[in-house]
Amino acid sequence: PANISIRDLADKMNMAAIELIKNLMKKGKMATINQEIDFELAAQVAEEFDIIVELEEEKDLLEEIFKEVEDKEEDLEARPPVVVVMGHVDHGKTSLLDAIRSTHVTTREAGGITQHIGASTVTLNGKKITFLDTPGHEAFTAMRMRGAQVTDIAILVVAADDGVMPQTIEAINHARAAGVEIIVAINKMDKQGANPDRVKQELADQGLLVEDWGGDTICVPVSAVKGEGLDNLLEMVLLVAEMNNYKANPNCKARGTIVEAQLDKGRGPVATVLVQRGTLKVGDPIVAGCAYGRIRAMVDDKGRQVKKAGPSTPVEILGLSEVPVAGDMFYVANSDKQARQAADKVKAQGRLQILGQSQQKVSLDDLYNQ
Ligand code: GTP
Ligand code: MG
Repeated sequence: PANISIRDLADKMNMAAIELIKNLMKKGKMATINQEIDFELAAQVAEEFDIIVELEEEKDLLEEIFKEVEDKEEDLEARPPVVVVMGHVDHGKTSLLDAIRSTHVTTREAGGITQHIGASTVTLNGKKITFLDTPGHEAFTAMRMRGAQVTDIAILVVAADDGVMPQTIEAINHARAAGVEIIVAINKMDKQGANPDRVKQELADQGLLVEDWGGDTICVPVSAVKGEGLDNLLEMVLLVAEMNNYKANPNCKARGTIVEAQLDKGRGPVATVLVQRGTLKVGDPIVAGCAYGRIRAMVDDKGRQVKKAGPSTPVEILGLSEVPVAGDMFYVANSDKQARQAADKVKAQGRLQILGQSQQKVSLDDLYNQ
């Protein structure tokens, strides 16, 4: 998103623009002095001249403009928990998500075709749970980078016939660092060689003591393939949600996180967003990083057009000026103009940082020649 002209870059590097143009030509890139190159390329070129350029996070600016107001207790309402599934390769993360979706997506009315939007809502006993498709660690990394909590609960999938593996441990560490609740699903219980006790022992070695061994880690045996134990697992998710009392104010301007985004040939920039606060509505002017626009249409995970989406609801939105970055926050602005101006500021800030953070690197030779 952040671009800089050759002229500006040369200025900041204290060099003749022609040197940069020559360097770019060596790379097989023709550029004129007024041409803008992106940050990555600018950084590459600068580095060859021993100058490091850094691009600062853009989040602060939007956070600054759309300052979070503390909600009053009476404005808060219960919201569905947001859950990610994580675990070692082949332990059944995708199978489990698919099985949950196919058995617990209740709305099957006419026109309701389950659509892949990167997140979905399932229902158990009338209570909703939001699942993100994003691999847990990615969701956590994004959220830690932005300092915002996206997920509430991580379902840690461990295959009963394979046990705790390196990525299981990684997942545990990620979840802990992010401060999310861990619920263990011991999967593949139908398999010969399934050994849940061994899994529990290995979990204990990682500091996760399951409930039936006197600890407080919830652990549910399941079989994604046979569809067994899924209700139990979801009940535990709802139990943890109840204990943590997840709440949000649904009656204010929406904000949330971009979960996925891409350019769609017919529809333009398309983004799946998770609303975290407020209610997002068709017609709302929004901004996410450098992308802005008025929401033209919203589609839910069942493929239905919706007019609004409250806290913990994932929806696909149309109407953005460009493809936003997954993990970025989005904000509803007061007007189209404010949204555009905020996005412009983010863009401009990107430029400023390239300029501002330039610093000469001292080479070893310099040191010895002193
Ligand atoms: P990656 O995305 O590659 O990390 O794998 P994953 O964790 O998503 O696992 P996936 O769901 O793709 O399942 C891996 C293999 O395990 C597939 O062949 C599944 O059919 C099988 N599998 C998943 N769950 C079960 C289960 O409950 N029982 C049995 N028998 N097989 C399962
Ligand atoms: Mg998978």
